[in-house]
Amino acid sequence: MKTRAQHDPSPAGAPTDAANSVTAAADWHPESWKARLEAQQVVYADREAVQRAADKLRSLPPLVTSWEIERLKGEIAQAQAGERFILQGGDCAEILAECRPEIITNKLKILLQMSLVLIHGIGKPVTRVGRIAGQYAKPRSSPTERGIIESGPGAGTEAELPSYYGDLVNEAPFTPEARTPNPHLMVRAYQHSAMTLNFIRSLLEGGFADLHHPEYWDLRFLENADLPDGRKGAYERMTRALADGLTLMENLGEARVHELTRAEFYTSHEGLNLLYESAQTRSVPRREGFYDLTTHLPWIGERTRQPDGAHVEFFRGIQNPVGIKVGPKADPAEIAALTEMLNPGNEAGKIVLIARMGAQHAADALPAIVEGVERAGRRVLWMSDPMHGNGIKTEGGIKTRSFDAILQEIEINADVHQKLGTVLGGVHFELTGEDVTECVGGASGVTEHGLNENYVSLCDPRLNYAQSLELAFLVAGKLGRG
Ligand code: PEP
Ligand code: CO
Repeated sequence: MKTRAQHDPSPAGAPTDAANSVTAAADWHPESWKARLEAQQVVYADREAVQRAADKLRSLPPLVTSWEIERLKGEIAQAQAGERFILQGGDCAEILAECRPEIITNKLKILLQMSLVLIHGIGKPVTRVGRIAGQYAKPRSSPTERGIIESGPGAGTEAELPSYYGDLVNEAPFTPEARTPNPHLMVRAYQHSAMTLNFIRSLLEGGFADLHHPEYWDLRFLENADLPDGRKGAYERMTRALADGLTLMENLGEARVHELTRAEFYTSHEGLNLLYESAQTRSVPRREGFYDLTTHLPWIGERTRQPDGAHVEFFRGIQNPVGIKVGPKADPAEIAALTEMLNPGNEAGKIVLIARMGAQHAADALPAIVEGVERAGRRVLWMSDPMHGNGIKTEGGIKTRSFDAILQEIEINADVHQKLGTVLGGVHFELTGEDVTECVGGASGVTEHGLNENYVSLCDPRLNYAQSLELAFLVAGKLGRG
């Protein structure tokens, strides 16, 4: 649901004067967003329980640190300058019940493998950012939905219940109890984020051996694949070259491989529930300003980026880099103005504009936005999210996305930036390391018919392991040196 603040007289999209940013910052505090209208607002019945949950979150240690956040900002600044590339990916919605070692390991593995393919193909360092350890809150197109109550009181009868807003807010089963927003879930989501992050940090510290050895790369999907244009040969050559490169590096000394594969990993999520974000937002000793310490890179979704809304108000006050999703209908002047509100000092590495247009609209919609932002002299990192504009429904009503459309949108982004002399500095995927059947296409051959075989996502369809790896090969080929 889209709501807009009506009480703020400043015209939407009006650029703010950089000189105003000092006053703007002075009137900001971690809860100043409460005076604005909040799109996608969760309505909790028990206000005292909300207070208890927020107080608890405020008292708990941060999930990430300010120096990690500043380091990521530096890496984003490098990517803006074309010296680095950002790979962001993970679930559409994390699920508390999937906070399990094998799922976390597989997700980390596919992201690291994709990053190695990209490093090899593009010839630049790659920063990995997971949609992980906090991606528990989801915007919905409607606040309620009609359905048949699944179990318990009223089972079998039709009812209108709150939509499922992610495990940080309520639970997915269609019962009145599960769908009632529960403030304590914010604490549970924090705890699961902490457990996830703890495991990721340990895996990376240990060197994550799977990566050093290409024999652990699962390329079986290529065996029976019916691939056009010699793609199969190209993938095999790339993997061999990668394997040789890693072996060479290993021969040169474990330290180099270790360095490469151990490299940084950052977290991100949509900063949707501002109660959760603001409760973990604090100033830290010997640093200026406030940090949202739930994650390194929070982003503002397509449905919550109203210039006069609560989300923009919250995010303009934090030091983290901030992502902004940009859909095909976005007004270039409004996007330029948003980058100014959120980054009045025009700091490098601060803003990531995540274009999610859809393959059908990208070529028409993206150039004007890129030009508008560039003309305004705004420093941003341009990233392509080829997932959220490419949702389709099968005749049977299953939500899916096509591998070809996903690839096509990235190719269009790359071409637009090349033409305009700007930099495509990153890609953003919904993916998992599991062998799910949620998106169609790719060499592993998921068809519309096979979607039911292992469709797990409660939200948007994700690329599976093979589809993700194949896309990395193709993106590396498109953006690569040769
Ligand atoms: C998402 O990233 O899962 C999402 C909801 O994106 P958007 O805001 O671009 O629709
Ligand atoms: Co999604």
